[in-house]
Amino acid sequence: MLAQDPLPVSAINTTPQVQVDGLNKWFGALHVLKDIDLTIRAGTRMVVCGPSGSGKSTLIRCCNGLEPFQKGTIQLDGVALGRNARETATARRLTGMVFQSFNLFPHLTVLANCTLALRRVFLKSGREAEEIAMQHLTAVRIPEKAQAYPAQLSGGQQQRVAIARALCLNPRIMLFDEPTSALDPEMIKEVLDVMIALAKTGMTMVCVTHEMGFAREVADEIVFMDEGRIVEHAPSKDFFSAAAHPRARLFLDTILSH
Ligand SMILES: Nc1ncnc2c1ncn2[C@@H]1O[C@H](COP(=O)(O)OP(=O)(O)OP(=O)(O)O)[C@@H](O)[C@H]1O
Ligand SMILES: [Mg+2]
Repeated sequence: MLAQDPLPVSAINTTPQVQVDGLNKWFGALHVLKDIDLTIRAGTRMVVCGPSGSGKSTLIRCCNGLEPFQKGTIQLDGVALGRNARETATARRLTGMVFQSFNLFPHLTVLANCTLALRRVFLKSGREAEEIAMQHLTAVRIPEKAQAYPAQLSGGQQQRVAIARALCLNPRIMLFDEPTSALDPEMIKEVLDVMIALAKTGMTMVCVTHEMGFAREVADEIVFMDEGRIVEHAPSKDFFSAAAHPRARLFLDTILSH
């Protein structure tokens, strides 16, 4: 599908933005997502947390088409993922993803990292792609590093470039998978500040993180996963004041006591 093709009518102005119904996924014999139902409305800031191995990464990777799944449905703005290649490509264009390990191309400058998909996938001219990239590099407060290579940047700077790169493609939903957990403590704040600023723009955000300060400040809703299931999904203030599930309470007690 070409960048200039219009989105299907069903993709325009429909809420919820993400609708997951009866999602099940196995890696071989390992059942890693079990009967997941989740609705994410436009503008929601959702934090997903839970113990290691509970399926958080797998869930958000399924939501942007990086992982196939065997049962259930995922719709992004009304477009189904996984039904056929065309719809999957359309749905994927709605999401931007930021990973723990930045995933920048090491042989490309910061600017070239940001313009690559704009030029190759969205068929923008070099000049237009650079203008868009510089806008987003400015928004993440790193325009002066446009000509640097990833290895010349700190981890926090690299992650801010990764966020700018995802934003260049004008996603409607941003997915973050532990975006600060590979960073030294002094760099965590600069990345969280960029994410807080993004949240204020009204962007729909789904963030796997253990940064409970960020979750308290920014999230509207918290999803807590355990052993492949969503065992709690609550407004943020209710989750922090009175998580209902014993596993969630234990998780909070452990994480907040550190
Ligand atoms: N590519 C894979 N092949 C086989 N099993 C996998 C694969 N990726 C993940 N798993 C398994 O699926 C389960 C869920 O993994 P997932 O990475 O989604 O957990 P997580 O909640 O993100 O954990 P963490 O907090 O450690 O990142 C785990 O048991 C994991 O070992
Ligand atoms: Mg993970």
